[in-house]
Amino acid sequence: MEHEGFTLWFTGLSGAGKSTIARRVAEVLRARGMKVEVLDGDVIRTNLSKGLGFSKEDRDTNVLRVGWVAEVLSRNGVAAVCALISPYRETREKVRERIPNFVEVFVDAPLDEVIRRDVKGLYKKALAGEIKNFTGISDPYEPPEHPEVVCNTAEETVEESVQKVLDYLESRGWLPSGG
Ligand code: ADX
Repeated sequence: MEHEGFTLWFTGLSGAGKSTIARRVAEVLRARGMKVEVLDGDVIRTNLSKGLGFSKEDRDTNVLRVGWVAEVLSRNGVAAVCALISPYRETREKVRERIPNFVEVFVDAPLDEVIRRDVKGLYKKALAGEIKNFTGISDPYEPPEHPEVVCNTAEETVEESVQKVLDYLESRGWLPSGG
């Protein structure tokens, strides 16, 4: 059966939990028979956006490239699951404007929490000044004003956050029943 494509766009600080939630949602959608593509910033920067840095211009280029891929995929019935910091509101809005079935998921975690987690050890380096222009420390992050879904990862389990995303998809009639 034909499924309606859409784009799930996870935005938030590094270490907030974007990739974890995105991958889990992708698994559920696949299990329900959808074609799914995960576009993760850390991976995209090793191929499609290889060579780009973290200036505003380079981040915008990265986000708009991934947005273009997501647009192409979702108009062809695929669930494009994107996980990028995508710190600039205006740039996320540009992507939203191009994609009819666009779902912005704000993966929210307080800065002190992501510093405490420091999954990749990058906050320690950023705080020591060893990494410049680090989002949340020495570079801006503009939270969404009207995200379709908010996951508070300091307060929810991964499964609870995943369920919020699935509930939203269900409410739009985009969650395949599976089978
Ligand atoms: S975005 O700003 O262009 O959307 P993206 O999600 O692709 O960022 O990449 C973020 C990842 O790059 C982080 O999770 C982290 O592992 C790494 N990284 C390296 N330098 C920086 C930096 N200066 N700011 C943020 N993330 C960085």
